[in-house]
Amino acid sequence: MLDFKFKCNTFASSISQRNTYVLDIFDRIRGNRGPLGQHAKDTHGYFTFPKLEGDISNRMMFRGKEVLVWSINNYLGLANHPEVRAVDAEASKEWGMGYPMGARMMSGQTKYHEELEQKLASFMQKEDAFLLNYGYQGCQSAIEALVNRHDVIVYDSESHACMIDGVRLHQGKRFVFTHNDMDSFVKQLDRAKTLTEQTGGGILVVTEGVFGMAGDQGKLKEIASYKEKYGFRLFVDDAHGFGTVGENGRGAGDEQGVHDAIDVYFGTFAKAMATIGAFVAGPEDVVDFLRYNMRSQTFAKSLPMPIVIGAIKRLEMMINEPEHKANLWKVASALQDGLRKSGFNIGDTNSCVTPVFLQGGLGEATNLTFDLRENHGIFCSIVVYPGGSQGRDHASPHPDRRSQLGRRQLHNRDLQKGQDQA
Ligand SMILES: Cc1ncc(COP(=O)(O)O)c(C=O)c1O
Repeated sequence: MLDFKFKCNTFASSISQRNTYVLDIFDRIRGNRGPLGQHAKDTHGYFTFPKLEGDISNRMMFRGKEVLVWSINNYLGLANHPEVRAVDAEASKEWGMGYPMGARMMSGQTKYHEELEQKLASFMQKEDAFLLNYGYQGCQSAIEALVNRHDVIVYDSESHACMIDGVRLHQGKRFVFTHNDMDSFVKQLDRAKTLTEQTGGGILVVTEGVFGMAGDQGKLKEIASYKEKYGFRLFVDDAHGFGTVGENGRGAGDEQGVHDAIDVYFGTFAKAMATIGAFVAGPEDVVDFLRYNMRSQTFAKSLPMPIVIGAIKRLEMMINEPEHKANLWKVASALQDGLRKSGFNIGDTNSCVTPVFLQGGLGEATNLTFDLRENHGIFCSIVVYPGGSQGRDHASPHPDRRSQLGRRQLHNRDLQKGQDQA
């Protein structure tokens, strides 16, 4: 009713003022706050934009009370590690947050940026790596840069928003396959092959290593087995696999024995390394192409020195101190076993990402989360569209359709801090 009135008013005022109907953009925004924003009045400060205070750890303060935090990405517990903090502080003191100024290509290059890239390439067993100033933009931009309008992208329906945005920037065709469904994947590959035979383009397959919402790994081994037949290139966003699965945390491809089949590997520093920034790794000439053609990097400031030096420290710890990953898995396994034994549905996770799927609607999910926070001192987040995963139709994301699925997740993605539970 309100919505109808709003539209009539807008229409009438526009007609009288200009004798033509032009919707004011702010009026539209005021009338439709978006899938998450529509709930902001009830959720802001509690379910959305909550303030967690105190040192980053398994226990923090929420609204004046101590809670056990199950909702942050600090997989290896490096965020507040004293050695990491010391290196961050020292580098900030020496360089400040400004240096180097400008984009890498113009004036933002340093030997430390190059050193970090070499170390990442060597650890990832790829020829070269390129640093990205933010994971989201970097991933999106790498996908966009790799393809031209003759190419076809085939992508998993539950790919992270940054991959979807990269796919959206692509000027050629894109075909989505049902999440981790190999029949659907092959069907889309067939379509892509038929099309590229006409356009003369290539095929880029885009998926995640560890799916950050549901915790299941992309079926990289099965996907890779189709490479020879279809001749595609494989791009893997392994934001949640980097540092947590595979040897020393080399990622999901390594764990599945197909690391070499990943043509372009994307990892972020924002999860296991508990900082900001990201990288792509792959063949030298391809990475060099990306270095010169990724608009998000060419036209944006280089990562500040303390971030780069801090990332070198974190990477070294990740490689040389396997106890961090071992502890993560000790805690993750205990948590997942316990949740399963207690009858919770944690889906098909085969990573440390531990979702709890709930039956019911948004009301039940918020009630449960409220109860956990207020009565049990457990800080969990609810994941709903557009952050949610299973059952989501990426091709036409629609919050109401998702709500009808009645499936909600609670997350425990920072397992390191859950040591008390192990
Ligand atoms: C799968 C995936 N890819 C990319 C990103 C973006 O990374 P960043 O936070 O470094 O921008 C995220 C972060 O949520 C993610 O979960």
